[in-house]
Amino acid sequence: MALLRLGSVMTFPSSSSNKPFLNCRSPTISMASTLHSVPKETENLKKPCLPPREVHLQVTHSLPPQKVELFKSLDEWAEDNILVHLKPVEKCWQPQDFLPDPESDGFYDQVKELRERAKAIPDDYFVVLVGDMITEEALPTYQTMLNTLDGVRDETGASLTSWAIWNRAWTAEENRHGDLLNKYLYLSGRVDMKQIEKTIQYLIGSGMDPKTENNPYLGFIYTSFQERATFISHGNTARQAKEHGDLKLAQICGTIAADEKRHETAYTKIVEKLFEIDPDGTVMALADMMKKKISMPAHLMYDGKDDNLFEHFSAVAQRLGVYTVRDYADILEFLVGRWKIEKLTGLSGEGQRAQDFVCGLPPRIRKLEERAQGRAKQASSIVPFSWIFGREVKV
Ligand SMILES: [Fe+2]
Ligand SMILES: [Fe+2]
Repeated sequence: MALLRLGSVMTFPSSSSNKPFLNCRSPTISMASTLHSVPKETENLKKPCLPPREVHLQVTHSLPPQKVELFKSLDEWAEDNILVHLKPVEKCWQPQDFLPDPESDGFYDQVKELRERAKAIPDDYFVVLVGDMITEEALPTYQTMLNTLDGVRDETGASLTSWAIWNRAWTAEENRHGDLLNKYLYLSGRVDMKQIEKTIQYLIGSGMDPKTENNPYLGFIYTSFQERATFISHGNTARQAKEHGDLKLAQICGTIAADEKRHETAYTKIVEKLFEIDPDGTVMALADMMKKKISMPAHLMYDGKDDNLFEHFSAVAQRLGVYTVRDYADILEFLVGRWKIEKLTGLSGEGQRAQDFVCGLPPRIRKLEERAQGRAKQASSIVPFSWIFGREVKV
C-alpha cells in the first residue's frame, strides 16, 4: 500500500497528534468523527515500550441493521461481478518467477547480477521501496480490517459467502507483494534487513484505524482509494527503477502495480453498486471519509529509533514523486469521475451538500499542496534512516 505526506492538511495524522505511544511520548486524544453511533474511548495510554497506537475516539458499528442486510442480499451479485476480478492461483505470478532460482547452477551469478544492478540505485529510492515493502508486509492488519466490516466479514475463517471468499483470496493475492519485495531487498544487500524486520513487527503490532467504523460503505471507499494509491506508487517505483537502469526491478514493481489496478477495479465496482442502490447514503459516506482524511495504512510505522519515521518516509516519497499530495487529489478526482458523483440526482439536502463538498475538494487539496510544497522547499533537511544503516537522506 502507499504513503504520503500532506503537511498539516490531509491524509495522515501528524506524528505529534496521532502517534501517542511509548514511554517517551506524551499522548493526546483527538476526536474521531461520528457517523451514527456512540464513540468509545480507547485506552492504554501509559504502557511503556509499546509500539505506536491510535488513541483517538473510535467509532464502531455505524451501519444500521437494514443496511447490513443489503450486503447480505448482494452476495450473488458479488459472486458474478466481484469474484471475477480474482485470478486463479494457477494463472497468478509468484515471487519466484522474478527471483534467482535457488536450485539452478546459475543462482549465485543471478544474485550477483541483481546486486550489481542494485548498486546503481540511489539510497533515497531504497528508502521508498523499503517503506512500500513494509506497508505490504503488514497484510495481517488489512485482512483484519476487511473482517471488521459488518455484513461482509468472514464469519468463520472459511465462510462460503462471496464477500468472505473475496476477502481471503484478495489477501492471498496481496501476500505475494510483500514476499517478492522482501526477498528482492534481502538479496540486494543494500538495506538493513534486521531494522526492516523490526519495523514490520512494530507495524503489525500497532495495527491501524482507517476510521471505517465496521461500515462497509466506508470500508470499500477506503479500499478503492488505497488500491489506486498503491497502483500509482508501485507504478512510479517501476518507472524510476527503469530510469536507474534496473529493468528487472521495474518489472517487479510493475507487476505488483498491475495487481493493485485489478483490485481497484473490484473495489470501485462495489462502491459503484452502492451508488446505484443508495446514492444518498453512499455520497455521504464518501464525504465522511474525505473529511476524516484517508489515513495511510502504515502511518503507525516505527523502527524503534525514529519517532517520525512515517513522516520522514512519506517526505522522501513525496520528494521523489513516488506518491505525492497531488496524487491524493488526483485519486479523489478520478473516483469522483468514476462514480459520476457530479451527475447524481434525487439527493437529500445533506446528500447534496456531501456531493458539493466532494466535487470541490480536489482543487482545494491542490492549492494547499502548492503552499505546503513551498514551505517544504524552505525547510528541507537531512534525516538518517535505520533501514539503510543510518545513512542520511534528504527529506
Ligand atoms: Fe499490495
Ligand atoms: Fe492492494
